[in-house]
Amino acid sequence: MAEALAQVALTWSGKIWEAILGKVGEYLVAPIGLQFTYMFYFNYNLTELETQLEKLKTTRQDVEMGVDENHRNVRVVGSNVEAWLKSANEVTTEVGRIIQDKAEVQEGCLNGWCPNLKLRYSLSRKAVEKTEVVINLKAAGISYSKSSYNPSPAYMETITNGDFTGFESRRLIMEEIIEALQHDEINLIGIYGTGGVGKTTMVKEVAKRAKEDNLIDEVAIAVVGQNPDLTNVQACIADMLGLELGGKTSPIMRASLLRRRLLQDNKKVIVILDDIWVDQFDLHGMSTDLHGIGFPLGGANKNFKMLYTSRTRDLWHDIRTKKEIHLDLLSEEEAWRLFRQKAGDSTDSPDLKPIAEQIVNECGRLPSALVLVGTALSKKSGRNYTKQIWEAMLDRLSCARSTRVDEDPLQEVQEEFATVANALAKKNH
Ligand SMILES: Nc1ncnc2c1ncn2[C@@H]1O[C@H](COP(=O)(O)OP(=O)(O)OP(=O)(O)O)[C@@H](O)[C@H]1O
Ligand SMILES: [Mg+2]
Repeated sequence: MAEALAQVALTWSGKIWEAILGKVGEYLVAPIGLQFTYMFYFNYNLTELETQLEKLKTTRQDVEMGVDENHRNVRVVGSNVEAWLKSANEVTTEVGRIIQDKAEVQEGCLNGWCPNLKLRYSLSRKAVEKTEVVINLKAAGISYSKSSYNPSPAYMETITNGDFTGFESRRLIMEEIIEALQHDEINLIGIYGTGGVGKTTMVKEVAKRAKEDNLIDEVAIAVVGQNPDLTNVQACIADMLGLELGGKTSPIMRASLLRRRLLQDNKKVIVILDDIWVDQFDLHGMSTDLHGIGFPLGGANKNFKMLYTSRTRDLWHDIRTKKEIHLDLLSEEEAWRLFRQKAGDSTDSPDLKPIAEQIVNECGRLPSALVLVGTALSKKSGRNYTKQIWEAMLDRLSCARSTRVDEDPLQEVQEEFATVANALAKKNH
């Protein structure tokens, strides 16, 4: 009887026969009735399983976020959480197989007629059983999840600002740095060069490239400066790695946590220390080196690398695994291109071009000066006095050059520019 009913029912379209025969099923003896229920409610049972699986996946994502957060903070995850995640993954795979088989059953159906009744029955039954497992697992997972998590650390978008132009001279240095980063015997790479030559811009671009090319997993950067606050340097690096140092006030504990985090999982990590002036630091009254701050140079780990920038050469001269790379001024042609890029199209006008060439010359192939002066002049272009403004700028720059007292060209140009800008502002208003 059951077979005959099924034959008739299956030629009808889905919902109608499910509704009618569902009712008929109520009057059948228990086991046969149950078999019919599985067949008739096939679609419902599988859809319910898919819905519950989605809920389980959401909970699993939450639990995984918590595990990641703990991991970033060098905290060990409890074995209950690990076991739960293992079960969640296994059940997800099993349900995935049932859902795949559902497609097979549906493919074999024509106008509601499904010849593969056996598979239809067994799948529907499995779906009901698994739904219960999924619901219970999800309920257990709730206790391992929180309502909010710290976001994963932000990477490149916060590090680079798109300032970099890939001039040939810069491209070559970048290649050299990237090569050093991949060298097993090198773990400390110093980029040195005159103020304003583009060291910071370069290392940020290197970090971006290395990340894009999957040469590194994580990167963190901190500015050290002339009067370093090392607690702040540690905090900056930890922040970028998603590591909370907050509660740890002792410098040794902070350094130890940082070191463990940097060596965790043998991940490829680069720490960039920008603008270094000295190679011995003062940390809470104690003289310390890089190791004392928490940077694990030395030792067997080949995955941790450190990059620094400095105006001074030959820092940490006793570290054998160090490579120093000099960043030179731009070539004449590159200097012209950078200035033109910043000052705009008016640079090519016949009355301004000769002045522009002299201005570029005065900027001494130094990116910072070219960017500063070029950008400032672009803002003044199109005005009545454009030519006079450019001439005035040239005058002031030449003057600065002939009366040079300070070794720092960037500072000189900046000071000069401030004077020029003030004078020009008065003239224009
Ligand atoms: N390759 C480049 N393309 C475009 N602009 C650049 C490039 N390199 C440097 N600059 C510009 O030059 C200026 C100075 O660069 P940067 O701050 O990197 O110099 P620095 O060597 O780190 O200087 P300091 O020694 O003062 O820290 C910035 O405005 C930067 O945008
Ligand atoms: Mg710098």
